[in-house]
Amino acid sequence: MKRQRPAILPSILDAIGQTPLVALDRLAAGLPGRIALKIEYFNPGFSIKDRIALKIVEDAERAGKLRPGGTVVELTSGNTGTGLAIVCAVKGYRLIAVMSEGNSVERRRMLRALGAEVELVPQADGAHPGQVSKEDLELVERRAAEVTERLGAFRADQFHNVSNVEAHELTTGVEIWEQTDGKVGVFVGTVGTAGTFMGVARALKKRNPAVRAFAVEPARAPILAGGPVVDTRHKIQGAGYALIPPLWDPTLCDGYVGISDEEAIEVARRLAREEGIFAGFSTGANVAAALKIGRESEPGTLIVTTANDSGLKYLSTDLFPE
Ligand SMILES: Cc1ncc(COP(=O)(O)O)c(C=O)c1O
Repeated sequence: MKRQRPAILPSILDAIGQTPLVALDRLAAGLPGRIALKIEYFNPGFSIKDRIALKIVEDAERAGKLRPGGTVVELTSGNTGTGLAIVCAVKGYRLIAVMSEGNSVERRRMLRALGAEVELVPQADGAHPGQVSKEDLELVERRAAEVTERLGAFRADQFHNVSNVEAHELTTGVEIWEQTDGKVGVFVGTVGTAGTFMGVARALKKRNPAVRAFAVEPARAPILAGGPVVDTRHKIQGAGYALIPPLWDPTLCDGYVGISDEEAIEVARRLAREEGIFAGFSTGANVAAALKIGRESEPGTLIVTTANDSGLKYLSTDLFPE
């Protein structure tokens, strides 16, 4: 059930969460499984990451790690940074977002518009713009650690901070359970920090241990599945870093689906044309994986996945060409 919000919200932070869940009955027509997509670009920063930004900052305030006027530093592919920029703007904190030059230009412009300072880290040798690799991420991590230390700042640390998982366990997962009246059978999701996957899987399995959770990985870097990593470069920005995230708990994962860049792009384009849902690469990967699972499911299985961010964040890429 959709919780009622008061007519005038105290701030934009009160508009985070409670996103719509939409059936993909055109895209999944004729399949035994039914697919529902949680439209996370309805959040104020147009991504799923607003949820963790709010929880990380408020947990840090409660723990005394962040005081009025303090500085927050984070490593980000853009979405967590944008969420943090929104939270920091409203609460009056300084934010330094450290990101790879490989991430799309829309992301950094939006961060700057929201008052964040952006530290851009050049990509590793041999990398391509629009393809952020494990090596790139290591360079960004090193810079974020340096900046945090130098400024004595609070590091949001989405890769290690359990508030990341808890945000999804307490909000995204609970909303999926309530919006499906507990009928969700399968959750499918890409893994970046693993916060979304772990939090949602935990919330759903706690309520019904029969719910299965499948992780989506770049086809050529299936590290969670234990497969050979052929190439760490791919276009699924924000996910698939070819590393086992520190927050990852394999006992909550029932299987793996490998998705190529081409599959993610094709499905993101079909999602726009056939369902009117304009989302990014990782959403294309999520829905491509949900369609694969939907083809092999028992009739009537309800498969839920997330539209992690908006297609507007990728207008400078080849996702939606002119
Ligand atoms: C577009 C996009 N998709 C997927 C993810 C992965 O989510 P998580 O970090 O919760 O695993 C992210 C994370 O930043 C993202 O920005």
